[in-house]
Amino acid sequence: MIGTLLATAALVAAAVPAATARTSGSDPALAAPSANAPYLNPRLPVAARVHDLLGRMTLQEKVGQMTQAERSSMATDPTQITDLDLGSLLSGGGSTPTPNTPVAWADMVDGFQAQAMSTRLRIPILYGIDSVHGDNNLVGATIFPQNIAMGATRDPKLVEQEEHITATETRASGPQWVFAACDCVVRDDRWGRTYESYGEDPKLVEEMETGIDGFQGTSVKDLASPDHVLATSKHFAGDGDTSYGSSTNGTYTLDQGIDIVDWKHFKDIDLAPYVTAVQQHHVGSIMPSYSSVDWTEDGVGNPVKMSANKQLLTNVLKEKIGFKGFLISDWQAIEQLPGDYATQVRTAVNAGLDMFMEPNSAPKFEQTLIGEVQDGQVATSRIDDAVSRILTAKFELGLFEHPYTNRTNIGTIGSPAHRAVARQAVAESQVLLKNADHTLPLKPSQRVYVAGANADDIGNQAGGWTVSWQGSSGDTIPGTTILQGIRQDDPDVTYSADASQPTGGYDVGVVVVGETPYAEGVGDVGNGSNTLNLSAADQANIDTVCGAMKCVVLDVAGRPQIITGDLPKIDSYVMSWLPGSEGEGVADTLFGKHAYTGKLPVSWPRSEAQEPINIGDKDYDPLFPFGYGLTDRH
Ligand code: GLC
Repeated sequence: MIGTLLATAALVAAAVPAATARTSGSDPALAAPSANAPYLNPRLPVAARVHDLLGRMTLQEKVGQMTQAERSSMATDPTQITDLDLGSLLSGGGSTPTPNTPVAWADMVDGFQAQAMSTRLRIPILYGIDSVHGDNNLVGATIFPQNIAMGATRDPKLVEQEEHITATETRASGPQWVFAACDCVVRDDRWGRTYESYGEDPKLVEEMETGIDGFQGTSVKDLASPDHVLATSKHFAGDGDTSYGSSTNGTYTLDQGIDIVDWKHFKDIDLAPYVTAVQQHHVGSIMPSYSSVDWTEDGVGNPVKMSANKQLLTNVLKEKIGFKGFLISDWQAIEQLPGDYATQVRTAVNAGLDMFMEPNSAPKFEQTLIGEVQDGQVATSRIDDAVSRILTAKFELGLFEHPYTNRTNIGTIGSPAHRAVARQAVAESQVLLKNADHTLPLKPSQRVYVAGANADDIGNQAGGWTVSWQGSSGDTIPGTTILQGIRQDDPDVTYSADASQPTGGYDVGVVVVGETPYAEGVGDVGNGSNTLNLSAADQANIDTVCGAMKCVVLDVAGRPQIITGDLPKIDSYVMSWLPGSEGEGVADTLFGKHAYTGKLPVSWPRSEAQEPINIGDKDYDPLFPFGYGLTDRH
């Protein structure tokens, strides 16, 4: 009897499909590949390498490639990377090694990579990070103005230069993939992600997609070089076109809400930038949005989350537009879908998502998806399509030949040359909205009084996504504040943050107003105390200084502030946006070293109640229109 049982067991074991058996010695197909395996040959076409590798993979190995975990969930036991055959890791906002230095970053990424290289097929991991205005998790990196400021420059070549520098600094510190740039079209400036958008006009967003070329280079071979990374267009699509109050996630009022639009509007405004990102710039990955879309044309009011929208992800984006890269879910985004976890996973994979940002539940995700495939709920062909897309990116990045960080450029991180480009970007982004009596540019001989907390706070001038997810006030990064820049031109200025110092005897005052850092829905107007109105402290500074002398107001914020009532008492008004680490770029225009050339990338509302207000609206009547900007040169 026992003999029969053993024989039967042996037969069953042999019959077990390779999918569930792992690296058992019993099946030669599961042995480590020989050194001359086609997929390890860099002279073969990528498609041939992908085909060969895919044919060698078990179901677990395939599902592992579709799984992305947050670094902190692996840091305590990196061997999980090997056990899970994990394909990718990310640093969420503020998830950094200690110390937070370039070398520590590169060592951390390489440490994780070593685990991946000890798996049977030695498939390297992809490490992703939100380098959304420089390599902004890394202290010491060059921190550029936020995207809305870059939109104000109207300078596509400069955006390409910015992202090439960002790619160089990011890849030299380890990550080979950035979740940038946001190709969002912001339609309601009360949105907490307004500053991540290049502007309200899809044509302007499309012009700035030269940033993808800066990140990836302009031909496939560039991706493997140490100054390029895989880029991500996000968040597909219509993340900036939600209706106020439609968000169902916590206290957000806009972020992650519902687009209540018809197909023509969605196609022309929200979808358009993805057509160019794919067809002109060949972006390597795309991140679907947390938001939903509800086609009012059918009027049934059934909003569908983007992560579940097969029509848009597969039929439109992959098949019609021709996207050949891979789709990465947003942070736990699939867990917002209807149903239990297995239903969420099945729905998202079948809708067309390829890799899953499941930061702290990688094992659960893998087991669930394997179960869905084995139960016939997800086709093997869908798995193979997703894995082929992901492997293609890894081959094109050169990771099979060079899995570890190429540190050639590590010394350029935060270099004077990189910072000079960021300073240029700051100057080009300044938008002059009023300049009575040619108050600007200032002359160094003038006696200048400076007020406002945002004059001397590098954390505030950098904004969200800086060292931490939400960003923070204070001396968070190296660089120059606006006041330090002003003092380079005029060392004798008086600075009084709250304008409490006597205001007599000055020729001109500079009042710096604006916002403190926030990110995503945390910054939504209507969430907590967030508003587009000036704070009481800013209002008081304007009243004190502008009541005592000629005055210039600089607005350091991620979106327009409501200044309608204050403008008559202000001589000159400049929108400085969120300039990042090189605050001296603001002083360059203030003192005439660089002309004011910036143009508004969003319409400027007369009141908060006017939002959303966009170029092309019926009865369009902003305080300053889209594209407005004065020069101080005559
Ligand atoms: C966030 C953001 C997304 C970012 C991701 C990873 O929730 O929505 O833009 O890339 O998580 O940090």
